[in-house]
This record gives sequence, structure tokens and C-alpha cells, in this order.
Amino acid sequence: MEKKELLYEGKAKKVYTTEDPDMLIVSYKDDATAFDGQKKGTIVGKGAINNRMTNHVFKLFEAEGIPTHFVEELNDRETVVKKVEIVPLEVIIRNFSAGSFAKKLGMEEGIKLLQPTLEFSYKNDDLHDPFINDYYALALGLATREEIDDITRYAFRVNEIMRKYFAGLGIELIDFKIEFGRYHGAIILADEVSPDTCRLWDMETREKLDKDRFRRDLGNVEDAYQEVFRRLGIQ
Ligand code: TMP
Ligand code: ASP
Repeated sequence: MEKKELLYEGKAKKVYTTEDPDMLIVSYKDDATAFDGQKKGTIVGKGAINNRMTNHVFKLFEAEGIPTHFVEELNDRETVVKKVEIVPLEVIIRNFSAGSFAKKLGMEEGIKLLQPTLEFSYKNDDLHDPFINDYYALALGLATREEIDDITRYAFRVNEIMRKYFAGLGIELIDFKIEFGRYHGAIILADEVSPDTCRLWDMETREKLDKDRFRRDLGNVEDAYQEVFRRLGIQ
């Protein structure tokens, strides 16, 4: 399958149309942004790592019965995906306190939560992706009750699969953000799962192996992405 026209360019990916109206090609960039694009930089090698890591874990999800947009990896940076209508919700699952949760609740980072949490943000950069709940999503027509139920069920399943999988690699899954789309009327997992969208800490040292190294200027950003990729053992 070949790229036709550039449909959309986001902060970390470009999306192209193909000859098949149901399929798109995603091309992952090394560009990194944080704080709604206010901070900009490059993480060398990130595009290939995020592409290959996303495809690897999406295959694990598919094997566990979670539908995803994954179709075929074309090369290091490019993948054929099903063309979905993105549900404008960022779905965040947390296993440990960190980031905005820790800040909002006046907690240290790294406290294990008694049970995983789920939260929604309304995907809207101008509004800085405000925190909303399912009533807001319904009231604003962002998704239907059935869609929210599917999203919630899939998100917690994704958490269980990833938590176990990363634990086997010596990585603690602190939290992550995922996005879903509509494909021929059904909810499927879309977008990416990568060190850009997850907090991943080394289980022993609690070292951060994710985009917080870029957001917070912690250094060794590329090394952290490479380390996660190495542990995945994709080759
Ligand atoms: P937060 O603690 O800043 O709310 O982030 C929660 C999780 O969501 C964390 O794993 C990082 C991820 N995330 C994104 O993928 N994109 C974003 O724009 C933000 C703010 C967070
Ligand atoms: N990618 C997001 C942005 O640029 C933020 C983040 O991941 O922290 O706004």
C-alpha cells in the first residue's frame, strides 16, 4: 500500500490517505512537544521506536480480543491503519500517583493506588484538554453510553495486559493515555502506545523511562526510549 496525500500532520505523526478509503498510513516523527506544543524538541529515533512499540503491543491486545486500528507495519516508521473517526476523548488510566494526578491531589509521585483509576479529557488543545466525566461526554455528544462503556471496558483490559507484560520486562506501568475511534460503527483502539503516552519506570531503580525525561529536562531522553525498546526484544 502506498501513501497518496497528506491528510493531517500532528505533533508526533503524519497521516496519509491511501488508494483504499478505509485505510490510512501513519508516519511517526522524531518531533516531541510538551505542554500543548509550547515546548518543542527532537528525540532521535523516537519515531521508529513508537511505531514499532505501538504495533507490538497492539498485536498483544488483538490476541486478547481488543480490536485495534493496526493493519500492517510497512517499515520502521510507517504503518497501515484502519481509518477511524477519533472519539475526542483522551482516556487515562493510572496505577500509581504521578503527573497531574499527584499535583492535583498534593501527593508524591509513585504511590500505588488502591485500584486503577480512569479519567477522560476532552481532546481540545485550545482548551488544554480539560478533565471531564462521562456525563459531560454524553451531554456534549462526544460519545454514546454504549461507546463509553466499551471504551471503559477496553481501557481497563489494556491496563491489565500492559501491566503484566511490562512487569515481565522489569518495567512498572505507572499510567498511560489511549484514544479510541469508530470504525464501521464499532469502537476500536487507535492512536499509539509508546513512551510518549505512558509513564514507564524501572521496577528496581524507579528511573523514568518515558517522555517525562523530555518534559522535565531530566536528560538521557534517547537512552530511555532505547532502553524500553531493547527490553521489548522486538530485535
Ligand atoms: P498527566 O499526569 O499529565 O495527566 O498524564 C497522564 C498520562 O497521559 C501520562 O502517561 C502521560 C500521558 N499524556 C499524553 O499521552 N499526552 C498528553 O498530552 C498528556 C498531558 C499526558
Ligand atoms: N504531546 C503533548 C503536547 O505537546 C503533551 C505531552 O505529552 O505532555 O501538548
